[in-house]
Amino acid sequence: MAGIRKVVFPVAGMGTRFLPATKANPKEMLPVVDKPLIQYAAEEAVAAGADVLVFITGRHKRSIPDHFDKAYELEMELEAKGKHELLKAVRNILPKGVHCVYLRQSEALGLGHAVLCARPVVGDEPFGVILADDLIRTERAPVLRQMLDVYERERVSVVGVERVPESETHNYGVVDSVTRSERLSQLRGIVEKPSRGEAPSNLAVVGRYLLTPAIFEELAQTGQGAGGEIQLTDAISSLLRREEVLAWEFAGRRFDCGNKLGYLQATVEYALDHPELAAPFAEWLRGVRDRDA
Ligand code: G1P
Repeated sequence: MAGIRKVVFPVAGMGTRFLPATKANPKEMLPVVDKPLIQYAAEEAVAAGADVLVFITGRHKRSIPDHFDKAYELEMELEAKGKHELLKAVRNILPKGVHCVYLRQSEALGLGHAVLCARPVVGDEPFGVILADDLIRTERAPVLRQMLDVYERERVSVVGVERVPESETHNYGVVDSVTRSERLSQLRGIVEKPSRGEAPSNLAVVGRYLLTPAIFEELAQTGQGAGGEIQLTDAISSLLRREEVLAWEFAGRRFDCGNKLGYLQATVEYALDHPELAAPFAEWLRGVRDRDA
């Protein structure tokens, strides 16, 4: 079977790096210009061919299903007022034929546990995982689509990686890998949040994974790892004993939107690219720069 049909979005996290904004609102609903982060993630999944979006949610996440649901009252009001462009924007959040499934992760046991919660829906198929707070801007195909091209050739799991400064490796899953071609390498190992000075490389996993269903068997056996959580990284490390796993150094620029600086940078870059905002926003930004010069 070509392609993937299902993409999993772990969205049960607390978003503590963005408090108090995330006290009652999920971090995935933070908007970058005019769309919440989770919508960018859903669009990336759809661009990779997915038609089942599986959200692993938790408490205080009701606005996520609301966002992807039909909004009758709002649509009626926009229609009555003749606001056709806005009506189109709220109606076309997802293309027809794309289904959303919501599963509740009732205990915060970690990213690996969240992905394992999706097993009854994903079943025995390869699937994608997108962490919505890693927003990636590309000129070419969206990252999951780039990774799917690799999967279609190689038929093994692929993780999205990026080179980060050595001083940052302790915040990520970090791979030990052998180069295959320009952007592609083969994993020898992977470590979650290595202590300073102990990272096997500076190639860090960012929030994109394309996994074979064998990962579920590994996740089911994975105990607590870094931070006392069930880590997806540890299950990938065990998977390596039975299957090859590849790392794809994607073409694109990533913004860590779970972090205030990354979020602000994303806002500026996406605004400078927005059809209506680009010109007035750029002019205003120049004013700020000159004022502070
Ligand atoms: C998670 C993963 C980590 C990965 C990171 C990417 O960590 O556990 O391997 O590098 O996402 O954003 P978190 O940021 O949830 O601590």
